[in-house]
Amino acid sequence: MLRRRSRAEGSALKRRADHRRATPPPLAKPGEGEAPRRREPRGPRKPPLRLATTTLWEYPSQHYDSPNVGPMQGDKEYVGATPAWVIWQLLQRYTRPGDVILDPMCGSGTTLDVARDLGRTGVGFDLAPRRDDIQRADARRLPLQDHSVDFVFIDPPYSTHIDYSDDPKCIGRLDAGGPDGGKTYYDAMRQVIDESFRVLRNRRYLALYVSDSWRKKKGGPKGSGAGLFMPIGFELFSLLRRRLQPVDIIAVVRHNRKLKRGNWHKAAEEENFFLRGFNYLFIMKKVADAAPHAPTARR
Ligand SMILES: C[S@@+](CC[C@H](N)C(=O)[O-])C[C@H]1O[C@@H](n2cnc3c(N)ncnc32)[C@H](O)[C@@H]1O
Repeated sequence: MLRRRSRAEGSALKRRADHRRATPPPLAKPGEGEAPRRREPRGPRKPPLRLATTTLWEYPSQHYDSPNVGPMQGDKEYVGATPAWVIWQLLQRYTRPGDVILDPMCGSGTTLDVARDLGRTGVGFDLAPRRDDIQRADARRLPLQDHSVDFVFIDPPYSTHIDYSDDPKCIGRLDAGGPDGGKTYYDAMRQVIDESFRVLRNRRYLALYVSDSWRKKKGGPKGSGAGLFMPIGFELFSLLRRRLQPVDIIAVVRHNRKLKRGNWHKAAEEENFFLRGFNYLFIMKKVADAAPHAPTARR
């Protein structure tokens, strides 16, 4: 038989529900780290990859089927993995077979697997290597010679949204919305970009994949939308522009099944905030013989 809840129990439950509504889930990447509850339907889930022709990219799966490396690139259990098909698009357009592809923040090794699939040579570093073909190094100080790689792909921590490792040098421990206004995070990312620029050959390309971030301000009035927006994409783009020429900016649609399950869309309406729907993909070119590409103001 159903027991009526006491007033104290009722208000404790309401407090817990309010807390759940007000705290967005960690900003996960599309499909990351989620064990599917039931088998995905076979068939059109992984359509063949075709070269993207617009600046809006979307694909229904994190991974693609490859006759060379199989249906998995990187590690599906890795929280924070890059969608493999995004790297596939980049390597198809901006590299040639035999090129050396660097990922200085290689995580689960998605870049290495896509490079191998396409006949390129992947070189991966991370502070917390997950497999033998990833070397331990800080992306700000790579054991590579100047002008020694043909393409760089970077998917950095987007501030503190994922706990990658206990290494004090992990950039994922630096808060882009911290009391220093994110200075430590952006300084660290400037060093990563400068180091990638150093090792990249002239007239070759670099791509950086990133999302903005938003978090609720503690104690803000309900429905006020009081939160902290961190425009990480634009900030990193301005750091890239100091050194590299912009080639294009792509919006990559995020498929986050976790967000579909919870009450997050309702919370976003009620609390007046937006869930992250896309990642930026900045495509840049090193043109070392050109003048620095500073923004010009027109009068
Ligand atoms: C978003 S994940 C990369 C995901 C990867 N592309 C993949 O598909 O698995 C960011 C990575 O940056 C690494 N990282 C953080 N700070 C670093 C640093 N200073 N040097 C090298 N790697 C770092 C983290 O350990 C984490 O693996």
